[in-house]
Amino acid sequence: MSSNQIALKNVVSMETLTNAEVLSLIKRGIEFKNGAKAHYDEQHIIANLFFEPSTRTHKAFEVAELKLGCDLLDFDSKTSSINKGETLYDTILTMSALGVDVCVIRHPEVDYYKTLVESPTITTSIVNGGDGSGQHPSQSLLDLMTIYQEFGHFDGLKIAIAGDLDHSRVAKSNMQILKRLGAELYFAGPDVWRSEEFADYGQFVTLDEVVDQVDVLMLLRVQHERHDDDSLFSKENYHKMHGLTQERYDRLKDTAIIMHPAPVNRDVEIADHLVEAPKSRIVEQMTNGVFVRMAIIESVLNGRKK
Ligand code: CP
Repeated sequence: MSSNQIALKNVVSMETLTNAEVLSLIKRGIEFKNGAKAHYDEQHIIANLFFEPSTRTHKAFEVAELKLGCDLLDFDSKTSSINKGETLYDTILTMSALGVDVCVIRHPEVDYYKTLVESPTITTSIVNGGDGSGQHPSQSLLDLMTIYQEFGHFDGLKIAIAGDLDHSRVAKSNMQILKRLGAELYFAGPDVWRSEEFADYGQFVTLDEVVDQVDVLMLLRVQHERHDDDSLFSKENYHKMHGLTQERYDRLKDTAIIMHPAPVNRDVEIADHLVEAPKSRIVEQMTNGVFVRMAIIESVLNGRKK
């Protein structure tokens, strides 16, 4: 048994994980990537409930669960009783009553998970697949796994998070944990999308001021679906002012890496031809997402044995 196998009741926010738990999940993800197997004698039923669109998170959780030998319960929000007025609480209460072990949930409401994990009757474990512009712990853990694989540590790394900061659960999850792990953070992007909460975690800069100094450039998707009015938005202007152009790519350190949670708006956050450039780890992030999610699911299944 690996010392990186931990037991957690739920995984809903990076704020509720200790540094030691985060490092164990990353290292267990790397063990899975290197071929480690998990064996369960008993049946485990998992429901993936996605109330917002998703390709990577939804499908990476499914692949992770299949690799662990779990049974997946089909759930489609479009045909569920949500359409007859059922609340999220009642959907999860039902899953719990049916004997579902783990619910992986993506939902547009920030903090939706709080009432679920505090409920004395809901016994199913909750894994947050993203709550509005709140938290995205599995994305954060796969990002950390990607950085750890590259550098072997976080302490002292210069990391710029650039783009649509206010609407990004990826930015919020990552800034909290990266600061706790000793990284030096910079925030870049349009002023209208960066609120003062980021000032507690790092320094506001322009991308041009730091692009030649950072170890990690973490680009964020422009989240049009969360904007009230995008009528003045210009893809060309955004790319020129805040995006990764070839000129900025050429100024990166030789050892620097580029990350993006994806989906990518090509030629907006990053030039189309740079998505798979040598310094890009965007495809690696997606692959790591399977293995770190295996570690997450394993940890909550372990938590249910306690
Ligand atoms: N990065 C991410 O969460 O992608 P999806 O929305 O496709 O799951």
